Amino acid sequence: MFTDTHCHFEKQYYDNYNEVFQNAFNNNVSRFIACGCSKDANAEAINLSNNNDFVYTTIGFHPDQANFYTDKDLEELKKLIITNKKVIGIGEIGLDYHYDGYDKDKQITLFEKQLKIAEELKLPVVIHSRDATQNTIDILKKYNVKGVIHSFSGSFEVAKIYISMGFKLGVNGVVTFKNSNLSDTLSKLDISNLVLETDSPYLTPEPFRGQKNESKNILYIAKKISEIYNIDLEKVSEITNKNIKEIFDI
Ligand code: NI
Repeated sequence: MFTDTHCHFEKQYYDNYNEVFQNAFNNNVSRFIACGCSKDANAEAINLSNNNDFVYTTIGFHPDQANFYTDKDLEELKKLIITNKKVIGIGEIGLDYHYDGYDKDKQITLFEKQLKIAEELKLPVVIHSRDATQNTIDILKKYNVKGVIHSFSGSFEVAKIYISMGFKLGVNGVVTFKNSNLSDTLSKLDISNLVLETDSPYLTPEPFRGQKNESKNILYIAKKISEIYNIDLEKVSEITNKNIKEIFDI
């Protein structure tokens, strides 16, 4: 049994969630952590988790919300976390310097405010970091938090830093891409540091790259991991679920 630790369930992406769940069940993927990233997406993820035993959620404000959120939104976020048992972490939160137009200082402020909430509520965080590795590391070091580095694709050296700080690495379809050297990096790391995610509807693994992603495709990521570590799929599921338990306690 596999768990998709990071998927975006939003109506704009999927007409029928039940179909997505059924497809996933048919491929031995039976737990989901729905990731929120905005006010609407957070509400939808919570709703889905309250209606389905097998759905958990992390909620938070993605750095692309840095120009729009208000402090009242953050108070509301905290309230939602406290009042909903299926919220098991805060995310995705972090820094994205890839695109122009997201104010860096505002991103940092939003990131730190949410790290404070995570620290206070003793919840793990799910980190989005794009073209912002050093700032991400420096800021995370200021807080007593652990969690997952979502969509990790960095170097071996960076991986070791995150791991030493108590983080697991979220591995998705990128590991199957022919132009990625992520599998080389992972082969030098212990599998106890990894969790599997699709980031659906994005980052569809080979051989379906380019199509809309779904949680069922965890299987293709797991297959790649089983090749890298030369272990069978069952072992991959056993170890990655144990890793998930360490972070999210599910
Ligand atoms: Ni995501």
